[in-house]
Amino acid sequence: MTVSQARNLAERALSKKRFNHSRAVVKYAMKLASINNLDVKKAAVAGYLHDIAKELNSSVLLQMINSSDIISIEEIKGLEQVWHSYAGGAYAKDVLGLDEEIAMAIASHTSGRAGMSGIEKVIYVSDYLSEDRNMPGLAPLRKLSEKSLDSVVLEILTRQISRLIALRRKIDINSIRAYNYMLSHR
Ligand SMILES: [Fe+2]
Ligand SMILES: [Fe+2]
Repeated sequence: MTVSQARNLAERALSKKRFNHSRAVVKYAMKLASINNLDVKKAAVAGYLHDIAKELNSSVLLQMINSSDIISIEEIKGLEQVWHSYAGGAYAKDVLGLDEEIAMAIASHTSGRAGMSGIEKVIYVSDYLSEDRNMPGLAPLRKLSEKSLDSVVLEILTRQISRLIALRRKIDINSIRAYNYMLSHR
């Protein structure tokens, strides 16, 4: 799939606001991919498609996840906020026939995953740090992202997990696994 095909697909599937977010993610992802000598085109395709399932309803998302081997639904029961990621990964792999790395980058963009590839890390980080995001405290993380992809992945995992704990919300076990993995591979 070409970058412009991915862009058109996203534009058709998403609201204007979410498409603009996806464009901002692509911009950030292309920058990070180029700094880290990764495939910039793959980063752009994954960036455009990362939220491709975001506007589908829960029952459709569940069906998409269930009919794919991307993840066991048992692992993400009660975690509706992450379903669009895994469903998007399933769609990329099973329907669009995209390669494993792009599919996994879409699947892991919200929670992260132990053993993420370079492109997966780039999309995970870009979804959090893209220019349209305005949570407090992003400036130092953006700076760090240009120096060390692994360090910024660990920082974002730490922030996301801490936030969920503070809010007494469930955590995708894959975020905990990713956090442990990043600590063991520093
Ligand atoms: Fe998302
Ligand atoms: Fe996103």
